[in-house]
Amino acid sequence: MSPLLLLLLGLLSLVLCVLRGRKRRAGEPPLIKGWIPYVGKALEFGKDAHKFLEEHKKKYGDVFTVRIAGKYMTFITDPLMYPNIIKQGRQLDFHEFSDKVAPVTFGYPPVINGKYPGLSEQVKRSFNLLQGDKLTPLTESMMGNLMLVFRQDHLQEEGGWKIGNMFEFCFSIMFEATFLTMYGRPLSTRRHSGMDVLMDHFIKFDTMFPLLIAQIPIRLLGRTKAIREKLINYFLPNKMSCWSNTSQFIKRRSELFEQYDALRDVDKAAHHFAMLWASVGNTAPATFWAMYYLVSHPEALQVVRQELHDLLTLSGVDFSSDKDVMLSREQLEKLLYLESSINESLRLSSSSMNIRVAQEDFSLRLDAERSASVRKGDIIALYPQIMHLDPEIYEDPETFRFDRYMQDGTVKTEFYKDGQKLKYYLMPFGSGSTMCPGRHFALNEIKQFLCLLLLYFDLELEEGQTRATLDPSRAGLGVLLPNNDVHFRYRLRKV
Ligand code: HEM
Repeated sequence: MSPLLLLLLGLLSLVLCVLRGRKRRAGEPPLIKGWIPYVGKALEFGKDAHKFLEEHKKKYGDVFTVRIAGKYMTFITDPLMYPNIIKQGRQLDFHEFSDKVAPVTFGYPPVINGKYPGLSEQVKRSFNLLQGDKLTPLTESMMGNLMLVFRQDHLQEEGGWKIGNMFEFCFSIMFEATFLTMYGRPLSTRRHSGMDVLMDHFIKFDTMFPLLIAQIPIRLLGRTKAIREKLINYFLPNKMSCWSNTSQFIKRRSELFEQYDALRDVDKAAHHFAMLWASVGNTAPATFWAMYYLVSHPEALQVVRQELHDLLTLSGVDFSSDKDVMLSREQLEKLLYLESSINESLRLSSSSMNIRVAQEDFSLRLDAERSASVRKGDIIALYPQIMHLDPEIYEDPETFRFDRYMQDGTVKTEFYKDGQKLKYYLMPFGSGSTMCPGRHFALNEIKQFLCLLLLYFDLELEEGQTRATLDPSRAGLGVLLPNNDVHFRYRLRKV
């Protein structure tokens, strides 16, 4: 046979193979491939993931496999099955996926390639510095930094109402206060110069984030590469060594990176930049939604403000708006209505997908009766937004109810599906061993921000605006951004 004919036959079989793709085997979940080879259902899924999954759940049941951009993803949509999936750690791996995607997105070399032995494990161990006892100094530092930014930027002027853009307001305060808390401040001043420029670059990068995660090459994304370089350069070791009050967590990470000669300064800086994204990328929009829902529900705002004043009175604090206020970690933990309001806004705005990669062909146990065969390399995905908006679990799920997580004055933890109590009913921070290590810090930060806001300001929405809606472009990647910013009015409270 001539080499040309051989080549043609080879190409033909490849095309046929791609067109036909895989066939569903006995024991496997229903398979939805779509008609476009390779791409599969990626476009429909990308347009509105929540709607797509709801529709397919109705048609195919609780578990189904979808071809999305060459990958086979098995979605588990019944939250009663979540505990089984989350505990099957051995055959399902989270980091295989994130270790491939994060380096390309943030611009550092892949950590698991033998070049940096032990780095990945040590980085994971450093996450302990965000939790437990270590949360106390972080919380204290954040309180001081929030107070500083509020005092210098917003509490100076007396007088009447001011108008602000709510997302911009939340973002700028949370970005700077979190930055100061994590990375520290210059030796001789309390705030960094050039924060506005850094924030601007961050927002531009963040807009491209979903495309980078989808593995679109950065060179195709206009100025994104240059912007990412600027963001990375901000964290070069010679710059960071001039900062003081850096958190133990970031100090530990810097020490770790120093142990690896193969890491260039720019690689270390890229790791620090990635952590900046992790610590603000979700917290800033989550703060916005929490503020938005409270300000647009004055009855809720009133209860939460009263809870805060009661706590201060009980703690013997004589609050007045010309004084700075400090709230300890223990005090924040007592603000149950505030916590319920934040959790409720996370329920309504978070859309994170929990991803695991099958390490071998095996039978995935779904519940006492059912299991599903999965193949090595397949992705198993939980999409908690479906649970968050399930009317059987949450009555009137589209409505903000600030006290949804409260019952008889204590925290409510009992939610049911099919008459069975759910182990997992709110999952904005992921699940199992890969759950967000910054979740306690994030919750405290948002509480601190809202406490200062409610203590120092009267707040109102500007009239005649449309409601804030969710921008689905980050669906699956965390807390969604609003489609449009919201105008609000604020003035210093006379207390
Ligand atoms: C409202 C704010 C936040 C939300 C909604 C959020 C959500 C998440 C989610 C969904 C994951 C993936 C977990 C999984 O797939 O199982 C994650 C991972 C992570 N988050 Fe957060 N996060 C927030 C704030 C923070 C903060 C403030 C920090 C740090 C100070 C942080 C640090 C991290 C890190 C380092 C990881 C990766 C963990 C790993 O590789 O195992 N996050 N976060």
